[in-house]
Amino acid sequence: MKEITLQIKFIECEATSELPDMDNDLIIKARDAAKNAYAPYSGFRVGAAVLLENGIVVTGNNQENAAYPSGLCAERTALFYASAEYPNIPIISIAISTLNRANTPSEIAKPCGACRQVMAEYEDIAAKPLRILLDSSDKIFIINGIDSLLPFRFKKEDVK
Ligand code: THU
Repeated sequence: MKEITLQIKFIECEATSELPDMDNDLIIKARDAAKNAYAPYSGFRVGAAVLLENGIVVTGNNQENAAYPSGLCAERTALFYASAEYPNIPIISIAISTLNRANTPSEIAKPCGACRQVMAEYEDIAAKPLRILLDSSDKIFIINGIDSLLPFRFKKEDVK
């Protein structure tokens, strides 16, 4: 028997000014997308912006529903839209931003497990680490690769 420790890595930035322009642009688009979320039940608005290898940026936000489980998170709205509209174009990065009822960004954006699983699938398709930018009011976390957010994930090889 042995105990195994896994390490996760991420970079913390104090402000968007510390980020490359490409990341900054994506965060701004995620923040804008959060404003248009349809979240009358939770009041918690989330925006996601996805950068494709061809330079196109696709955005999405959470879409809630009176039948609660029928709603969808911002990340999956954006990722599924990107894959539907631009099939076979690798996804390079995703920025995620949130707004609470008071219209202020909440603490660091944290994607749910289902969204992490979906990110993982597109990372596999792209065959390079997905760059994940988690926004907040005062800092940004940069995560290079889904393994740091979802170790032991289920993979398409597992289905065989
Ligand atoms: N939500 C997202 O859109 N993304 C996340 O990463 C976490 C949660 C949404 C789902 C729901 O509309 C609301 O936030 C509250 O859970």
